[in-house]
Amino acid sequence: MKIVVIGGTGLIGSKVVKQLRARDHEVIAASPATGVNTMTGEGLREALSSARVVVDLANSPSFEDAAVLEFFETSGRNLFAAEREAGVAHHVALSVVGTDRLAQSGYFRGKIAQEKLIRESGVPYTIIHSTQFFEFLGGILHSGNDGEVIRLSPADFQPISSDDVAAAVTEFSTGDPLHGIVEIAGPQRVRLADLVERFARANNDQRAVIEDPAARYFGASLQKDTLLPGANAHLGAVNFDEWFSNAQPARG
Ligand SMILES: NC(=O)c1ccc[n+]([C@@H]2O[C@H](COP(=O)([O-])OP(=O)(O)OC[C@H]3O[C@@H](n4cnc5c(N)ncnc54)[C@H](OP(=O)(O)O)[C@@H]3O)[C@@H](O)[C@H]2O)c1
Repeated sequence: MKIVVIGGTGLIGSKVVKQLRARDHEVIAASPATGVNTMTGEGLREALSSARVVVDLANSPSFEDAAVLEFFETSGRNLFAAEREAGVAHHVALSVVGTDRLAQSGYFRGKIAQEKLIRESGVPYTIIHSTQFFEFLGGILHSGNDGEVIRLSPADFQPISSDDVAAAVTEFSTGDPLHGIVEIAGPQRVRLADLVERFARANNDQRAVIEDPAARYFGASLQKDTLLPGANAHLGAVNFDEWFSNAQPARG
C-alpha cells in the first residue's frame, strides 16, 4: 500500500514512517525538507500519485495566531485538492484531545479549522485526538514562563509518549477510515504543574512552578478536565517514571 506521511520528518512523522516501512508499505516521508510543501503545493501532486492513504502529521512552524490558522487552512485546501485528484481512500490526521474546548487559543482555532476541512473534504477520514506528548513538557514549561516563576493552570492532563503516539497512528493508518474521532492518551493522570515541575527539575531548572487559576494554556483558560480524554480513549504503555528514566532531552 502506498502511504504518504505529510510531516514525515517530524517528531511523530519520522517514527510513523519507520513503523510503516517495517510493515512493508511503500512510504513517502513528505515535508519541505524532502521537496513537498503543503503551503505552496510544491511536490504534492507527484507525491500523492497513486497513494491510498495520506497521514497528516505536519505542524505549523510558527505558533503565532494568524500564522497557525493560515498554515492549517491553506495546507488543508491544497492537500485535499491533491487527495481528491489522486483518489486517496483514507486521510488520517493527528490533532489534540479537547481541541473543541480550546477555541480561546489561536493555535487551537487552527486545529479546529484543520478538522473542519477534513470533515468537509469528502475523503474518508480518521482524526486521532492525542493528549500532550511527554516531549512537549518543555513547550508547556516555556509557555508558563513568568520571569522568576512558572505559572500554570491548576488543571489535570494525561500525557503520552511519542512512541505510543506513533504506534497508534501506524495502527489507525493501516485500518479502515472511522469517519470520526478516536482518542489516545497516556496511562496516568496528573496535575499539569506537578509534571512540569518534575520536568523542570530534571533539566536543572529550579524555578518555582505555581498553580494560578488565571494562567492560560496557550491562550485558553482551562477547567480541571479540559485536557483529559474520555472514558474510551486508547491508552499508551509508557508511564512517567519510564519516560523520565530514559532521560529525554528538553524539547520546546
Ligand atoms: N505537541 C503535542 O503535545 C501534540 C499533542 C497532540 C497532537 N499534536 C499534533 O501532532 C502533530 C505533529 O506534531 P509533531 O510535534 O510531531 O510536529 P514536528 O516535530 O514539529 O514536525 C512538524 C512537521 O511538519 C512539517 N512541515 C512544516 N511545514 C510544512 C509544510 N509547509 N508542508 C509540509 N510539511 C510541513 C515539518 O517538515 P520539515 O522538517 O521539513 O520542516 C515536520 O516534518 C501536529 O499536528 C500537532 O498539532 C501535538
